[in-house]
Amino acid sequence: YGDFNSKIDYVFKVVLIGDSAVGKSQLLARFARNEFSVDSKATIGVEFQTKTLVIDHKMVKAQIWDTAGQERYRAVTSAYYRGAVGAMLVYDMTKRQSFDHMARWLEELRGHADKNIVIMLIGNKCDLGSLRAVPTEDAQEFAERENLCFMETSALESTNVESAFLTVLTEIY
Ligand code: GTP
Ligand code: MG
Repeated sequence: YGDFNSKIDYVFKVVLIGDSAVGKSQLLARFARNEFSVDSKATIGVEFQTKTLVIDHKMVKAQIWDTAGQERYRAVTSAYYRGAVGAMLVYDMTKRQSFDHMARWLEELRGHADKNIVIMLIGNKCDLGSLRAVPTEDAQEFAERENLCFMETSALESTNVESAFLTVLTEIY
């Protein structure tokens, strides 16, 4: 039959986690559709989007899951993490608290996900440099200690978004 889907070599599930309003949904919108919304609404429950890309001559379908950072809107966690081979742990570099919560998110992730999951720490909103509340070195240190990849991104300006997702997907592959 030879349709587009039949040529997919791999499907990789990647989950986004982190506090509310750090920009998880906009990172996904930027990566999957090259879109950005200033008045993004808080996510309720779980959503996902897919993007197919070529990695090392193979067709890889990235299935990126996005959930609510707000506790009251979150869906059942074990179902969310099931089958995930990659995770983006996102904080807002202008909100110290969102970075301080990374340890808790990581604990939840490690409690539910496969032990070989590839994890990327992301400091989002790097376009707001003058409001920075988390020094790059603090995040780097945390990432090294916990064995995570690390990047600073801006969903608004498209900085490092593609690169962050590609790094995770390539590491998985
Ligand atoms: P929940 O769904 O509640 O967990 O939040 P979220 O992490 O999905 O946040 P969302 O993507 O909805 O973004 C929250 C707000 O931050 C919105 O007003 C976005 O426009 C804004 N935002 C997201 N990414 C960036 C960025 O890179 N730079 C700037 N300046 N604002 C951003
Ligand atoms: Mg959201």
